Amino acid sequence: MAATHAFWLAGRQVTGEDSFDVTSPWDGRVVGTVSVPTDAQIEGAVAAAYAVRDEFAATPAHVRAAALDHVSRRLVERTEEIARLISAENGKPMKWARGEVGRAVSVFRFAAEEARRFNGGEAQRLDTDLGGQGRLAFTRRFPKGVVLGIAPFNFPLNLCAHKIAPAIAAGAPIILKPAPATPLSGLIIGDLLAETELPAGSWSILPVPNDKMPALVQDERLPVISFTGSEKVGYAIMDSVPRKHCTLELGGNGAAVVLADFASDEDLDWAATRIATFSNYQGGQSCISVQRVIADASVYERLLPRIVAAVENQVTGDPNDDATDVGPLVSEDAAKRVETWVDEAVAAGAALVTGGKRDGASYAPTVLTDVPADVTLSCEEVFGPVLTVQKVDGEAAAFAAVNESKYGLQAGVFTHDLQTAFRAHRALEVGGVVVGDVPSYRADQMPYGGVKQSGVGREGVKFAMDDYTYERVMVLTGIAL
Ligand code: SIN
Repeated sequence: MAATHAFWLAGRQVTGEDSFDVTSPWDGRVVGTVSVPTDAQIEGAVAAAYAVRDEFAATPAHVRAAALDHVSRRLVERTEEIARLISAENGKPMKWARGEVGRAVSVFRFAAEEARRFNGGEAQRLDTDLGGQGRLAFTRRFPKGVVLGIAPFNFPLNLCAHKIAPAIAAGAPIILKPAPATPLSGLIIGDLLAETELPAGSWSILPVPNDKMPALVQDERLPVISFTGSEKVGYAIMDSVPRKHCTLELGGNGAAVVLADFASDEDLDWAATRIATFSNYQGGQSCISVQRVIADASVYERLLPRIVAAVENQVTGDPNDDATDVGPLVSEDAAKRVETWVDEAVAAGAALVTGGKRDGASYAPTVLTDVPADVTLSCEEVFGPVLTVQKVDGEAAAFAAVNESKYGLQAGVFTHDLQTAFRAHRALEVGGVVVGDVPSYRADQMPYGGVKQSGVGREGVKFAMDDYTYERVMVLTGIAL
């Protein structure tokens, strides 16, 4: 029988009245049973966070940094166990699950470093005009208030880390809701935070059922919402609380552009391998996985067979097996949705080059060409191991094709030419342009987020801290400047 997991209410482990099972998408076994907070317990967490907000904002940087460093170190020590948990509840292959723990280690370490240097204050002389003579403006950042973090299932540890760590670094209390399909990896961060000296109330991790979230979202004691998930839910949240600060990390249909100058055998092998790996990592369930390849006509015929061979080389199967590249999707329903979209595209005239088969929650790595522009697969985020390849004539057409999307998260541009790289940076309507690699590259300290329907605001530790805080200026009078 699987263990029942308590949740974390104001830094203490507590159980509620109800619970639910978390099952493995690979074999359906129960990985754990998770206790659900009652309404009174949710209220307790909010009240505690709200009550501690001033004390927490004033907690010395060394205390918050030490706590963050502690979590980082403990994640290193528990890597294998936590990776197994991620893999069990999410279906993510072990090689990717270990990588995710490694990234969370860095996120907490970066947050410790940022906590030490954040908010040193910035001075600005005001005597540039007569009215400002003898005056100095001094600006520091202060938390906007308690953060409500809502995390998705696809990186069940690291995207929780991206909500919690910057909040602690900035001195903002946080209530984190992990995804219902994968709450265990988020709850484990509580085990590590509980070993620190952070004030009670400064953090809670609550597996709140989705139907209870609207009330929490509306709660005025939680002025900041940081949400990662679907476009539909994200904008519904923002539309329901237009006066709150919302950071929304939403979907994408990441494009990898391969330009005419990226044409040697070595270049094309590199591009194809990266494209195949990052259209399939985590079963394509990443907002920056490669969904679209946009290839210049001069390289298309040599690139396509390489991509197909590299996709067919992906090892599918048991996520527990170290050799596996691609495991199941998060659920059978998710795989059925992907199947429907691919079938729709093929019925509309797309050519299925490889893949296109479903087995339970698993979907075979798939490549299509000639996909009509108006099918769902061309318009929406597939969030599955599916790649479309498109031929274009020249750089301008390639950049236009990238921008022909309601999304704008990240894009990859395979070129050696610095001028082209700068033109791509200017032309592409996305939050990040990765030159020489796929759009899926993310370093956890860099700004990460989208434009258009991909969201608003930025994560990446320092940038999330900026999002969670605001500038407050102090004007000093009678200063000898
Ligand atoms: C996401 O799916 O938005 C997160 C991608 C990542 O952190 O690599």
